[in-house]
Amino acid sequence: MWHWLNALMFLFLIVTGLSMQYSSPDYPFIRFDLAVFLHNIAGIIVTLGYFVFVIGNMVTSNGNFYKVNLREIVGQLKKQFMYYTIGIFKHEDAPFPLSENRKFNPLQKVSYVFAMYAFTPIMIISGLGLLFPETIIPQVFGVSGIHLTDLVHIISGFILSVFMIIHIYFCTIGKTPTANFKSMFTGWH
Ligand code: HEM
Repeated sequence: MWHWLNALMFLFLIVTGLSMQYSSPDYPFIRFDLAVFLHNIAGIIVTLGYFVFVIGNMVTSNGNFYKVNLREIVGQLKKQFMYYTIGIFKHEDAPFPLSENRKFNPLQKVSYVFAMYAFTPIMIISGLGLLFPETIIPQVFGVSGIHLTDLVHIISGFILSVFMIIHIYFCTIGKTPTANFKSMFTGWH
């Protein structure tokens, strides 16, 4: 439920965010004030959901899947990369088959850690800053604090949008193209 609410709200954020960013005010894709309103609501839901995600990972064993062993991860990433670029086309076995103890392969793990523990909090904090602009430092080295916050927000939003596209593509490389999507509904892999 967390994941699908997050995914739906994220799509809302992307569409309303792009509309605010690129539409001409005379011919908006979504009326500007409506896009701002919907973007704010979706942003607040994603923020609340994020607390559920972080607290959920702290109090349940799901958090273990996000722990990275810094000594082993580089070698593991190389193996997984070779599998995705060469091995998979030769029908080799996956180097890190999924099990009850290993829900993510190393590439999934690292991309989820970056998305959820680095870029999402940056996006949320900068978004909250823009929602409450009175909290933003007016000037940083002569540059407007709001502009800088906006830049950080747009860059982190862009990176997370790219993450989402790659994420969805990689989710199709399961036993069958739809197997991983089904397991996100049924809970069974
Ligand atoms: C329409 C958009 C999306 C689709 C179709 C989708 C699909 C999936 C699927 C099939 C999985 C299970 C495969 C796996 O274990 O890797 C998954 C897991 C996951 N997705 Fe997504 N996703 C979407 C959007 C997002 C977004 C926007 C985020 C975060 C910004 C996200 C973060 C995650 C995380 C963290 C997991 C692992 C959850 C866990 O089990 O702890 N997803 N997603």
